[in-house]
Amino acid sequence: MTAPDALAEFQPLRDRLARVPSLDAPALAAERIAVLGRKGGELTRLLKSVATLDDAGKRRVGAAVNELKRAFESAFAEREAALDRERQAREAAGTDLTMPGRGRWIGAAHPVTRVIDEIVGLFRELGFTVAGGPEAETEWYNFGALNFPADHPAMDLHDTLYLDLPPVPGDRGGRLLMRTHTSPVQIRTLLEAGAPARVVIPGLAYRNDPFDASHAPAFTQLEGLAVDEGVSFVDLKATLSHFARRFFAPGTRVRFRPSFFPFTEPSAEMDVGCQLCGGSGCAACKGSGWMEILGCGMVHPNVLESCGVDAERFTGFAFGMGPHRIAMLRYGIPDIRLLYEGDMRFLRQLAGPGQ
Ligand code: DAH
Repeated sequence: MTAPDALAEFQPLRDRLARVPSLDAPALAAERIAVLGRKGGELTRLLKSVATLDDAGKRRVGAAVNELKRAFESAFAEREAALDRERQAREAAGTDLTMPGRGRWIGAAHPVTRVIDEIVGLFRELGFTVAGGPEAETEWYNFGALNFPADHPAMDLHDTLYLDLPPVPGDRGGRLLMRTHTSPVQIRTLLEAGAPARVVIPGLAYRNDPFDASHAPAFTQLEGLAVDEGVSFVDLKATLSHFARRFFAPGTRVRFRPSFFPFTEPSAEMDVGCQLCGGSGCAACKGSGWMEILGCGMVHPNVLESCGVDAERFTGFAFGMGPHRIAMLRYGIPDIRLLYEGDMRFLRQLAGPGQ
């Protein structure tokens, strides 16, 4: 080796020297061995190669290597002392670095909220907007305007939670109650904006039900209303079948069964092929292969007339579903109470990707 060769090896070592003050404790220990180690250390190797130089080279390079060696030794010592001081300060502050780290808390939307957001998103794509209304309603909005006869059993104290409060002055009709469905928002929407209308209405509804595996006194509903000239049952079927195939799976089968609601005529219930067994029959669908998803129908002319909409000119369809129930069907949840308890061991199993 010649003296210039030996000096050329210094630059990488000087770069390493400059990095010593940023090393942590394990890196510092490793670097000390890599540079000063008696066997494979870089500087030890350089010092040995000095012996192969001529006298002038020995003096020049030898002095430089020794100077570099001292510089490393003091840089290592200084860094070690600094790490020691940091450690003492942390200990004094009570930080125990041997404690296992805490996982970062990442929040996620509740499964029922996710179901609502998804359904609302699908209807937004079809041109529906979102509407809302009060949870404390009057008899007129909740029943009368929706074509319930005055003696309808749903109005019974056994089913409806009445509020012991005076009616809001100027508001239409009767006693105050907790709305038993989101359908009164159909009335408010039509009264406010008239026809045409195309809205979805997610919200809470209340009934005097026991809190058991399949009932809750407060539960979610998602209502839809489309009123325009020339709207027919074909539009209802096409819209709701599209929704079922987008929300569940592209090949999902649907069927409409005749039903009754005071506010629609004709009325139907829509079933989808059981999402758990694919239609062959299981415990979740009670062997039928079908799951009931929603109620629907053509808006009753009396409802349109209660809202001042000309029922000769306009027709419409409406539907209502229960996001709590849909979440149960979709995820195979056997007890509705699980969706109210907030037990993270349960909720984590339903969290979406990355949540
Ligand atoms: N309001 C009904 C209920 O609570 C659900 C419903 C059925 C809403 C049919 C509708 C409809 O708009 O057309 O059971």
